[in-house]
Amino acid sequence: MARYGDPMSVPVILDVDTGVDDALAILFAVRHPGVDVLGISCVAGNAPLAQVVDNTLRILDAAGAPAIPVAAGAVRPLLEPARAARHVHGADGLGGIALPPTRRRAEQAGAVELMRRLILEHDRPVTLVALAPQTNLALLLRTHPEVAGNLERIVFMGGSASVGNATAVAEFNVWHDPEAATIVLDANVPTYMYGLDVFNRVAVDHDVAVALEHGDDPLARVVGALLGHRVALSEDELAEYTGLIGDAGAVCSIVDPLALRTEVRPVRIELAGYGRGQTLVDLRFSPGRDDAHGLADGWTNVEVALAVDAERIARLFLDTLGARA
Ligand code: RIB
Ligand code: CA
Repeated sequence: MARYGDPMSVPVILDVDTGVDDALAILFAVRHPGVDVLGISCVAGNAPLAQVVDNTLRILDAAGAPAIPVAAGAVRPLLEPARAARHVHGADGLGGIALPPTRRRAEQAGAVELMRRLILEHDRPVTLVALAPQTNLALLLRTHPEVAGNLERIVFMGGSASVGNATAVAEFNVWHDPEAATIVLDANVPTYMYGLDVFNRVAVDHDVAVALEHGDDPLARVVGALLGHRVALSEDELAEYTGLIGDAGAVCSIVDPLALRTEVRPVRIELAGYGRGQTLVDLRFSPGRDDAHGLADGWTNVEVALAVDAERIARLFLDTLGARA
């Protein structure tokens, strides 16, 4: 369990669209002693906002978490309509895993106010962990730019230097609100990108997930059920088991950064055409002729995770959740 105020633990705020893998990330963050969860802000993404808030509160119960403040944020992206990923996370956003109702309640204050207060009041720089469309972060940084003075960095699950998922080239979180992601990149806060290049690599074996789901530990049963959630590709077809820990890997990267290979690279987000929402990651070792086309501007240096010791991160995840299958 996180030791609150422990100087060795990293103070974080999680921004989530809970979601099956956001749930795994919350469970890990609450349980790992090296992470101090100050609060959780919710945004529409995988599911509508109200569902995201309810799922988040129920997952905190499942984790046996202390009274961590949870606040509701944006109901849709800055420009785009909300586009829930029901085909991935199920109608309820948690893969149909019926967690018991919770007595926990969200804060009266909204997500932007909660994040502002937690960041400015904390006695150490805070790490913002964005596991969802970055609408809340964009609104925070535009409304209270002074928070940047007490941000250690932004760790975001999103983007890709290679394949997309929402489209052939764009990753869901950035694709859902590309303007927000651009505002966040432009905020001059040190940024770490945990994109699909590593997100798609860290998984738990099917037999381990099954053993967890049918074991004696209530928390491990929830973890196993979440890992075992199938992605319905069509009405009568279920995708092969994936077992991806998804967003949880971004939190694991904070605890065990050496398990990933990163490079600081120029990144920008495409806002137009088929590539809308694509994170363009410049992997060249020598400058090209971007200036000839007036394209040399608009890039931000980001620490991009390009490779991961997937077994090491999966082990960290399972050991932390006491899920010894
Ligand atoms: O592309 C993966 C991301 O989109 C994850 O954060 C998942 O939860 C969804 O939000
Ligand atoms: Ca998410």
